[in-house]
Amino acid sequence: MSADKEQRIILREVCETCSRPIFPTQSTISSLSAGRPGFCNCSSLKAASPKFPEAQEEVPSESSPERRFDPNVRLHDLTECGYQFLDRIGKGTLSYVYQARSGKVDALLAMKIFRRSPFENKRTLKRLEQEANKAKQLSHPNLCSVYEFGLSEKQYPYLVMDFLAGPTLEEIISTEGFLEVDRLIDIAIQICDALSHAHQHNLIHRDLKPANIYLLKAKGGGDFVKVSDFGIAKVLPNPGRETRYMTADGEEFGSPAYMSPEQCLGERLDSRSDIYSLGCLMYEALSGKLPFSSSNPVRLGFKQVSQKPQSLRERFKDIEIPEALDAVVLCALEKKPENRFASADDMKEVLIAIQDGKKPNLPASSVSKSKQDSLLNKDRNWLNLFGLGQKNKKE
Ligand SMILES: Nc1ncnc2c1ncn2[C@@H]1O[C@H](COP(=O)(O)OP(=O)(O)OP(=O)(O)O)[C@@H](O)[C@H]1O
Ligand SMILES: [Mg+2]
Repeated sequence: MSADKEQRIILREVCETCSRPIFPTQSTISSLSAGRPGFCNCSSLKAASPKFPEAQEEVPSESSPERRFDPNVRLHDLTECGYQFLDRIGKGTLSYVYQARSGKVDALLAMKIFRRSPFENKRTLKRLEQEANKAKQLSHPNLCSVYEFGLSEKQYPYLVMDFLAGPTLEEIISTEGFLEVDRLIDIAIQICDALSHAHQHNLIHRDLKPANIYLLKAKGGGDFVKVSDFGIAKVLPNPGRETRYMTADGEEFGSPAYMSPEQCLGERLDSRSDIYSLGCLMYEALSGKLPFSSSNPVRLGFKQVSQKPQSLRERFKDIEIPEALDAVVLCALEKKPENRFASADDMKEVLIAIQDGKKPNLPASSVSKSKQDSLLNKDRNWLNLFGLGQKNKKE
């Protein structure tokens, strides 16, 4: 039997302890063929001096939509590029993420391997490459470092970055409900630092959300923030436009829950779009609720474009949120970019003032009530395009 066929048989084995697919070493391949039990990745990770097995992944069934993704081919392909795969960490909209190790970097890595089909479009692939190469240039303690972008022999785009032990802010919000004010301010300041560095290098995140914020333990206690997925998350599928809730491969690309109005409208973005997303993130972290929500992505996009967010202090009377912090969040959530903080540094300055118990200087909003109303009326036409104008009134 050829090594390839033999591995495919092993791939169907599942660990009795953790129910994950077995990641065999060469020695276990021969022990399996001799009829002995397989070697599981969970036990290899627990071992005092772990051996890093050859990467393998379960073969999805013929009927599975993952079949087209064929992770088995990708992993085999990349193992040949010198990466050792330790575990499958998770799955995003566009990719699978694996924990990996390489001889080149003395740390655990995360390897994001993208679906192939969306990147068969050469312009989209080029755009991913450009964004990934820009992300590689960034170097900041609050950013997840990106080491390599490549295309495997079988044409799967992949990205190698720091492995972040987490948890993500999304996980913290879902377990704790919401965060203490002081903790959130500290986290938001670090996010501003990361944004500021990237914006100075002309890179916009475009998908800032709690799932892309990792909270490591700081040496002196507290949180050490790492922002991941800079620039790469929303390159699909229509270069030049940023609208997220379109489909490729018949799948939805997520919700516009953290998207700026200009992003929902498919307009060109600048760094202030990330400030808006940070406003959504802070609103959620402080209250456990998003400023806007709807199960319908188009209606949610409309709310981002046209609905005034309710102040945190008005909406959550039982949560103690300082007035100044509420004002910071509302300023970040201004519909027009020019009414938000001009930069992440400006926002950080105000957050530090609040942290120090000083009176912060917020940018003056230049939108009069009548101008705001006419903006809302204009955007109602946009909603009507989707036949949602009437329904929206009830929400
Ligand atoms: N650098 C990393 N270190 C550790 N885990 C990671 C890393 N990057 C991603 N993950 C994990 O892999 C999974 C998929 O992440 P991915 O970034 O692809 O999607 P997402 O950000 O959760 O969502 P979406 O694809 O919709 O933007 C998540 O569980 C995430 O926490
Ligand atoms: Mg992510």
